Amino acid sequence: MHTNRFTRIGFILAAAGSAVGLGNIWKFPYITGENGGGVFVLIYLATVVFIGMSVFIGEVLLGSNAHKDAVSTFETLSPKKYKYWKYSGFTFLTGVLILSFYAVVVGWIFHYVVVAATALPSSVQEAENHFMNLLQKDIGTQIFYYTLAFFVIAYTISRGVKKGIETLNNILMPTLIVILAILLIYSVQLEGFSKALSFMFSPDFDKFDSSSLILAVGHAFFTLSLGMVTIVTYAASLDKGVNIVKASITIVIMDTLIAIVSGLIIFSILFSAGQEPGKGAGLVFITLPAVFFEMGSMGIFLAVAFFTALAFAAVTSAVSVLEPTVMYLVERKKMKRKKATYSVALIFYVVGLFALLSNTTEFSSFLTFGSKNVFDWFDFISAAILMPLGGILVAIFVGYIMDKEVSRKALVPHIGENLYQVWLFIMRFVAPLAIFLVMLNEMGVIQF
Ligand code: TRP
Repeated sequence: MHTNRFTRIGFILAAAGSAVGLGNIWKFPYITGENGGGVFVLIYLATVVFIGMSVFIGEVLLGSNAHKDAVSTFETLSPKKYKYWKYSGFTFLTGVLILSFYAVVVGWIFHYVVVAATALPSSVQEAENHFMNLLQKDIGTQIFYYTLAFFVIAYTISRGVKKGIETLNNILMPTLIVILAILLIYSVQLEGFSKALSFMFSPDFDKFDSSSLILAVGHAFFTLSLGMVTIVTYAASLDKGVNIVKASITIVIMDTLIAIVSGLIIFSILFSAGQEPGKGAGLVFITLPAVFFEMGSMGIFLAVAFFTALAFAAVTSAVSVLEPTVMYLVERKKMKRKKATYSVALIFYVVGLFALLSNTTEFSSFLTFGSKNVFDWFDFISAAILMPLGGILVAIFVGYIMDKEVSRKALVPHIGENLYQVWLFIMRFVAPLAIFLVMLNEMGVIQF
């Protein structure tokens, strides 16, 4: 019996903790807002069920079969003449790149928990000034909260799978769910709720176009934390004998429900205040704080609850980004966990500082290369290139390279032969093609 492994419920909460993040509470509502609501939600649900879930099961399958770090997982499961497939395991580096700007955003959110409690901006204009000032001028505040974020993340990972990751998720995830439930109950009785419902669930097919489809596939991947061996690594610490299909379905459902509930909460509040949905990335940091202010003391309570939920969601995701690299160093390079964690964290703390500074007026000109600053480059390189690449590698590895008996033995007892064939078909053809199109689109090679 391995002492540093997840229990079944610990794994479900931790993987859901990874999946549920800024993607659910921040990004999903605003891209839904920009892409016509109902149609986008419908396409997104379809891509999550058909493509996202299949690849998710594929990643859990890899990890839970090998019980090793990601590189060793690919190495163990590849046939002799394909041993070079172990290099796919190095896609954990994508995660570390993501961490360096994700932690910057976690820092903003920590700051907004304090803003919510002490000084909500009194108008949208003021809210915008506050946000822009934080990003462009207030380097001290940003670095303070960024450092705090990195410390929380590194401390958790340094304590290991059980004492660190499982404990953190066992506390934060249920709390997150309770907070969202309270916010949902509050939203249901707002006058904007019915408008939010119809905005999110009545599809208007005139707004359907191929770019929403591509966006939905990309987001299905991002929100499920696929393509950077995070899920592979978490599943490697899963005890034997767990029904991996059931666990995967539970996690995917939790992730999807939380995205939809967040959308309903945010749109109900916005519509009740007479605001429009298509506000882009500033929705959460600009429009919402101003709307909360309008609500008086109730608004302060809601704002603190909301940003706390967002902080919890983001921290549990950020933690999961670091674990694959640390597990690799511990298992393959025989480093002590503490040393591995703090060395990697320190390096990426410094790298992330460049991302942080690249948004500031003072340093932006040094830290802008071509059309983007460092922050946007990290985002672009990871989301548009490395993450899809990692997803394709997993799909091809599971679909073509790995011995079919491994996947058959793990899945057929749970889903039967027919569904297994459907799953295999998705891994071999649908997923690689869909992800490839996302990649070309995001890179601007083709425009849908
Ligand atoms: N799934 C996370 C979210 O929805 C973001 C994310 C993408 C992520 N890839 C990841 C988190 C890898 C951890 C590890 O916000």
